[in-house]
Amino acid sequence: MSLDVESIRRDFPILGTKMNGKPLVYLDSAATSQKPIQVIDAVSDYYKGYNANIHRGIYKIAEKATEDYIGSKGDLAKLVGAGSYREIVYVRNATEAINVVALSYGSANVGKGDRILISKMEHHSNIVPWQMLAKRKGAILDYIEIEDGARIDMSDYKEKLEKEPKIVSFTHASNVLGTINNAKKMTQMAHSAGAAVLVDGAQSAPHLPINLKDIGCDFFVLSGHKMLAPSGIGALIAKEDILEKMEPVYGGGDMIRTVSFEKSTWNELPWKFEAGTQNIEGGIGMGAAARYLLKLGMENVRAHERAITEYALKRLEELEYVTVYGPGIKDIVSRVGVVAFKIDGVHSHDAAAVFDSEGIAIRSGHHCAMPLVREIIDETSVSRMSFYIYNRDDEVDSAIDAIGLAKEKFGRAPR
Ligand SMILES: Cc1ncc(COP(=O)(O)O)c(C=O)c1O
Repeated sequence: MSLDVESIRRDFPILGTKMNGKPLVYLDSAATSQKPIQVIDAVSDYYKGYNANIHRGIYKIAEKATEDYIGSKGDLAKLVGAGSYREIVYVRNATEAINVVALSYGSANVGKGDRILISKMEHHSNIVPWQMLAKRKGAILDYIEIEDGARIDMSDYKEKLEKEPKIVSFTHASNVLGTINNAKKMTQMAHSAGAAVLVDGAQSAPHLPINLKDIGCDFFVLSGHKMLAPSGIGALIAKEDILEKMEPVYGGGDMIRTVSFEKSTWNELPWKFEAGTQNIEGGIGMGAAARYLLKLGMENVRAHERAITEYALKRLEELEYVTVYGPGIKDIVSRVGVVAFKIDGVHSHDAAAVFDSEGIAIRSGHHCAMPLVREIIDETSVSRMSFYIYNRDDEVDSAIDAIGLAKEKFGRAPR
């Protein structure tokens, strides 16, 4: 079943607006997705109808707020195939989730001279917390090489695993190359080597059918704002037995069972990790977003995005003055709807400015993956378009026209 894109588009109020006098063409969903009315309404209904703090109120609207906040975790668990709401810790975003793992699990399990292994295709948020942990503990941070500028070099991965890292962390889908990594296989290999595994799902959870029980990783992180939910809500998803053993990173209200002047004991999961008043409206919005995606069906979401990405790659192939990064069309099965490219002789910021004047939102720069862009792509800045459930082929056509305009304006004409 394919997505009914026209009906989906009607759910997104922003898609009826203009940018620079032109109908908005939004091709920057890898940075943040647009929000459907169902999510906007869920947040505003909470404020208009039952705004109250959660967990502690013994009155109707506080009970409803608590119920919806907890219920949202159930919906998210269903979307990604997690066990139950007890495995879902709400945090601000994927970045915070990785930091919590590094600070809690990392601090307890990584010591001097131990190794942490990540890949060379990571977003800064899956590099910097590990660098900080390594520095704190005197540990060694290793990087898995990339082959053909597109995918994890599995033989290098195997070799680096022989050094028995304590933690392995890698992105499920790259925000620059679009590469989908085989999270299940990589997790199995890491587990055989005795490492705990964190999978960065910031670019996969919004776009792919995910079954965490099947992948088997220890930690999975995601950001709500990239998957139709509000900003400021994300999730750290982990198996209960691991969360039980971990120390909380933040202390304060709600995360405790008892407090005396001498010591405190911790609340049950997942509340032990949620200190202080939470982003209640964000959680409620996350639930609405998860239900929206569940209703569409993630298989259908994937099929739509795969088709539009394939179309974009085909159209870009026609332009001999454009270089596209990441897996090619023949590897479309291992590519999400993220397409980074470079127009010969045109700086990516100039390209983005031309797109902007045409009402098209794309991103340019290092995409918070400076080492990847510098070392693997060998550039300082590239352009990126990224697709979601509401994008159409004719928007790809508009992007192709804008590339032509940018080339005309800033680059030398192709011979
Ligand atoms: C692969 C990947 N990981 C992590 C992040 C961090 O997400 P956030 O800024 O929402 O924490 C991003 C954001 O672009 C990303 O693309």
